Amino acid sequence: MHMRLQFRSPVKLVLLICFCWWPIVESQISNPLPKPARALDATLQDYAYRAFINPRTGIPFNGIVPPYLTGIEISAMRLRSGSLYRRGVKTFKEFLIPVGLREQPYVERLVLVYQNLGNWSTTYYSLPGYVYLAPILGLLAYNGSDLSASNLPELDFWASEEVITINFGRIRPIPVGLVAKCAWFDLHGQVNLTNLLSGNVCSTTEQGHFSIVAESAVPPVPVPPASPEPAPSEPAHSSRKNNEPRIWGIIGAVTGGTALLVLLALLILWAWRYKKRNRMRELERAADAGEALRMTRIGSMRAPFALATRTMPDFESEFGA
Ligand SMILES: *[C@@H]1O[C@H](CO)[C@@H](O)[C@H](O)[C@H]1NC(C)=O
Ligand SMILES: *[C@@H]1O[C@H](CO)[C@@H](O)[C@H](O)[C@H]1NC(C)=O
Ligand SMILES: *[C@@H]1O[C@H](CO)[C@@H](O)[C@H](O)[C@H]1NC(C)=O
Repeated sequence: MHMRLQFRSPVKLVLLICFCWWPIVESQISNPLPKPARALDATLQDYAYRAFINPRTGIPFNGIVPPYLTGIEISAMRLRSGSLYRRGVKTFKEFLIPVGLREQPYVERLVLVYQNLGNWSTTYYSLPGYVYLAPILGLLAYNGSDLSASNLPELDFWASEEVITINFGRIRPIPVGLVAKCAWFDLHGQVNLTNLLSGNVCSTTEQGHFSIVAESAVPPVPVPPASPEPAPSEPAHSSRKNNEPRIWGIIGAVTGGTALLVLLALLILWAWRYKKRNRMRELERAADAGEALRMTRIGSMRAPFALATRTMPDFESEFGA
């Protein structure tokens, strides 16, 4: 009886591991990555609004970020929609907002939130295959009616007459042989690369996050030689963001698949050994039956010898296999 238990439990364990593993693999494939950049936008909106102690229209107020985000600069400017449309904003940090700015949905007062991600740029906006020549700068608009509000949705805004310009000031030198491009990340993480207006000036007609990048010498995504996955040959400016969850999904699936194969092999091995031992037990039982037969024939005097030979195969199976 104790033999049966001993062989059954590893099988149960394997099945348990299989069933526990599967949902993990599934969730890695189907769940998109969390959106840290969007969470950061929400945090920075909150902290930028806190800068309005004595809010005056059309004046930038620099905010203070929480200590764990040290290195990021924020600023907020409250404006009346009408005057923003008619007059624009001469300068708001690196941004120059021309006349004709419209927003959707319409609000009477709006707040422009400026972000300079500084040394956090590549953490939140990674662009493999490109080097940043300037920090990521963000310009987002929110409803400015309630200055204690948090978790506000962004307002869509766009320049209807002239483009918004971004003068990045001093940028890192462009590496030899490379071309500098303006990078624009929209709120969905989609990135578009366009030409610079001049040495360090980019333009946009919409909100989002901006920087200047240069294509680096190393290939965008290093591909291991034995990888069955085809090399990503798509251009860098198409939805790069969507690649990351897919790669992790593939890695998860491969790891999970390998583990499953190993477990399956173990299961087969166990089944084989279980069958082998069962056969041994059968032989043992047959031997027992033969001996019992002999014992009854020979009589109670021979019993100690018979017992000794009967227990032998048990030792063998315990240590032999
Ligand atoms: C950025 O720099 C600040 C200090 O100025 C540091 O506390 C922070 O950890 C840095 N962030 C990153 C992502 O390196
Ligand atoms: C802007 O905020 C005010 C106050 O919270 C609210 O009454 C108004 O509906 C909001 N406007 C939009 C377009 O969400
Ligand atoms: C962004 O790039 C895509 C193609 O990469 C293009 O179809 C789209 O028009 C671009 N958007 C803007 C606003 O330039």
